[in-house]
Amino acid sequence: MSANPSVVATAAATASGPGAAALPPAMLERFAREVAKYPAGQKQSAVMACLAIVQQEQGHVSAAAERAVAEYLGMPPIAVHEVTTFYNMYNQQPVGRYKLNVCTNLPCLLRGGAQALRHLEEKLGLKDGETTADGWFTLQHCECLGACADAPVMLVNDRNMCSFMSDDRLDQLVDDLRNAQEQQA
Ligand code: FES
Repeated sequence: MSANPSVVATAAATASGPGAAALPPAMLERFAREVAKYPAGQKQSAVMACLAIVQQEQGHVSAAAERAVAEYLGMPPIAVHEVTTFYNMYNQQPVGRYKLNVCTNLPCLLRGGAQALRHLEEKLGLKDGETTADGWFTLQHCECLGACADAPVMLVNDRNMCSFMSDDRLDQLVDDLRNAQEQQA
C-alpha cells in the first residue's frame, strides 16, 4: 500500500520536537501509514504499530525511541513506556538472534515452567534475562502466552510457539537453532 502524501506531510509537520525529528524519514512515513488507519484525532491508537516498526528497524525500543514515538503521537512518554513494558514482544534493550520467552505463569509453573527455565539457563550458560556471549540466544521468563493447555510453553522470537517443553524438546530446539545458524554461516 503506498503512503498518502498528505498524511505523510501532516505527520511530518506534527513531528516537531527533536525526538521525533531524529527518527529516519522512512520510519516516519511508516508511522504515518499506521496513523492513517484511524479516525482523525485518534492517532494514539497507532502506538503499538509504531513501536513495532521501531523494533523492526532498530532491534529494540530504546528510551529515546519511546520519547520520539510519544512526541510523534502526542502522548505522554509514560503512556508509551507503559505499552512497551506491558507486552513481552517489545525489547527494551538489544536481544540475541533468538529470543526465548519461557512462560512461568501458574498453569505453566504447575507443569514444569520453572524447570524449563532452569534447564535453559544451564544449557545456555546464562541467567534469566541475559544473552549468550555469542549473541545468539536471549532467555527471558514471561507472563501467560495464552496457550495454557499446552503447558509448559515457550515463544521463540515472538512468533513461534513451542508446546509441552520437556528438557529433551528444549535441547533439541536449541541444537536445531544452532545447527541452522552454523549452516547459514
Ligand atoms: S500460563 Fe503459560 S501459557 Fe498460560
